[in-house]
Amino acid sequence: MKKSVLLAVVILLAASLGLSACGSGTSEAAKGEGDAQAENTLRLALNQTEDHPSFIALDNFGDRLKERTGGAYDIDVYPNETLGAQQEALLLVNENVIDLAIVSGPQLENLNEDFKVFNLPKVFDDVEHQMRVVHDKAIVGELYASLEQDNNTTVLGGFTQGARSIYSAKGPVETPADMGGQKIRVQESDLFVQMIQAMGGSATPMAYGEVYTALQSGVLDGAENNEVSYFTQKHFEVAPYYSYTNHLVGLDYLIMNTGVLAEMTPEQRRIFDEEWANTYQEHTELWLAATKDAIDSATEAGATFVDIDPAPFTKALQPLIDNSLTTDTQRSVYKATREAAK
Ligand code: GCU
Repeated sequence: MKKSVLLAVVILLAASLGLSACGSGTSEAAKGEGDAQAENTLRLALNQTEDHPSFIALDNFGDRLKERTGGAYDIDVYPNETLGAQQEALLLVNENVIDLAIVSGPQLENLNEDFKVFNLPKVFDDVEHQMRVVHDKAIVGELYASLEQDNNTTVLGGFTQGARSIYSAKGPVETPADMGGQKIRVQESDLFVQMIQAMGGSATPMAYGEVYTALQSGVLDGAENNEVSYFTQKHFEVAPYYSYTNHLVGLDYLIMNTGVLAEMTPEQRRIFDEEWANTYQEHTELWLAATKDAIDSATEAGATFVDIDPAPFTKALQPLIDNSLTTDTQRSVYKATREAAK
C-alpha cells in the first residue's frame, strides 16, 4: 500500500477507535476499577495476546512507571492488533496518534534500510547475544535515533522473538526441497521474501493477525515464527508440523513518539529508562518459560516438533547475508554485532 493511502486508512482507523492526535492524553481504557487515572496514560499498540510474555512485561512496566512517577505516567497496552496491525501502529506512532508500539524488525527496515542488519539470518547467535547487542548504545545509538528527524519516532530497544522456524500444514519440512511449491507467510519486508525464496519456498507477505485464517483456508501452506507465537496464535491447529530450521533470532522494537518522550522531566525520563531496562530483562526471563510451555501445550494438542539438520538451510541463506550489507552503517553494525558474539 502507498504511504499516503496507508496514512488515510490509519487516520480513519484512529477516528473509529475514538483516538485523537493528542500525544499523552488520558486513555479510555480504564486499567482497574478504583484506580486513580495517571496524569498521562500512554497508549501502546501490541499485536500479541494477553498471555504472551510481551503483554505481561509491558503491563507490569506501566504499573511500575505509575508507582515510581507518583501517578504522572502510566501505560495502557492494547493487545491483539486492536490499534491496528504493526504497519498501521508504526504510522500511528509517527503521527502522534498513539504513543508507543511494539513493532517487529522488518517494519523499521521499511523506514531505514540500515535496520536490516538485525533482521538477517544468523546475525545473532542466541537470545543472550542479541539482548546484549541491541541495548549496547555504542553499537545501536545512532541507528536508534535515525528515525527521530523524519518520522518523529525513537527506538528504545527491544524484546527477543527467540529463534524462528518453519511450520507447515503439509508435513514436516526437513530440507529446502520440501519447501518447493509451499506458500509460506512472511512479515512485510523484501528481505523476508528473499529469505523464504532462498530456503526453497514461495513467500506471501501478510500481517500477523491474518495468518490463522489464511492457513485454515489453504491460502497459505505454512509460516515461520517462534514457538510462543505458534502456540498463542493457535497456528498449530492448522499447521501442525513445526521444523527447527532456527533460521534467525527475531527482534521486536519498542518505539515511542519522539515528542511525547521529550515531554518527560529528566527525573521521569531516568525512571522510564530504568523501568524499561527492567522490562526487557523480565521479558527475557518470561520468554524461556513461555517457550517451554508453548512446546508442551502444542504437543499435547497434537502438534509435532521436528529436529532437522539446519545446515542446508544455513548454506542456502549465506548469499543473502553476503549481499544484504550494502551501506557503511549496515557493515559497521554487523561487524560490531559479530564481534560481540562469544
Ligand atoms: C512475532 C513477533 C511479532 C511479529 C510476528 C510476526 O510474534 O513477536 O512482533 O509481528 O512474529 O510474524 O508478524
